[in-house]
Amino acid sequence: MGEPSPWPWDLPLVNLYGDIVLTYMYYDVPFVPTPEVVVRRMLQLARVRPGEVLYDLGSGDGRIVIMAAKEFGAYAYGIEIRKDLYEQSTAKIRDLGLEGRARIINTNFFDADISDADVVTMYLLTSVNERLKPKLEKELRPGTRVVSHDFEVSGWRPVVVEEVYEEWRSHKIYLYKIPGKEVPIPSGKTAPLEDPFTRQVMALVDGNNSIEDIAVKLNTTPREIRNALRKLIDAGLVEGIKTIR
Ligand SMILES: C[S@@+](CC[C@H](N)C(=O)[O-])C[C@H]1O[C@@H](n2cnc3c(N)ncnc32)[C@H](O)[C@@H]1O
Repeated sequence: MGEPSPWPWDLPLVNLYGDIVLTYMYYDVPFVPTPEVVVRRMLQLARVRPGEVLYDLGSGDGRIVIMAAKEFGAYAYGIEIRKDLYEQSTAKIRDLGLEGRARIINTNFFDADISDADVVTMYLLTSVNERLKPKLEKELRPGTRVVSHDFEVSGWRPVVVEEVYEEWRSHKIYLYKIPGKEVPIPSGKTAPLEDPFTRQVMALVDGNNSIEDIAVKLNTTPREIRNALRKLIDAGLVEGIKTIR
């Protein structure tokens, strides 16, 4: 009697294809990492600035989240459905001492609240981007930058399309901006303001300048302007923020 014949699922090829089939059955996209050089260029094109909030949808081994936090000073969140990748990337973040700036959330990105994002990164598939589009359009604030590696968001007009050559193939990066603007409306009341930055912001609130315009004029991020506006709303000097989509 020879060796018992192996169960078909013990054969390497069956396992390999089984993994691929399982990936597509349970997850929307398999894990394929973005090369570091492409990650850096995605973050540069999105002009990620310190203190901004970034979400990587389907964060894999956490490389985008880690670079955004470590090199760009962002508060970076990864959404990853696979438990093994979630655990692996969380351990890496801990080893690098980045827990204060980087975090992986083990969930389905269709269920995650990403409304606080300044930047969203994705390396998915055109078909998945298509399914994500209504969520992105509904949840993200005007001006939010969306960067997609290799796969377009059909129907959106990119601000930039760039090709990056890396070792054996070229990669496309699509940068989009959620259209529309947010305009703070002055209440017409006046009061002395101690903090110089808040005073500068208030001086630019005229019912025409958008949050993004004010951020450009003061060479800072829309997030910083929003923080100052919160104080101005509390002080009764700004009535509210009008969103124009
Ligand atoms: C192509 S990889 C990209 C990984 C990483 N963003 C990068 O660029 O290196 C896609 C990742 O999305 C994850 N994924 C697929 N469907 C998902 C879903 N519905 N929710 C969260 N993560 C998902 C996969 O497990 C995989 O790690």
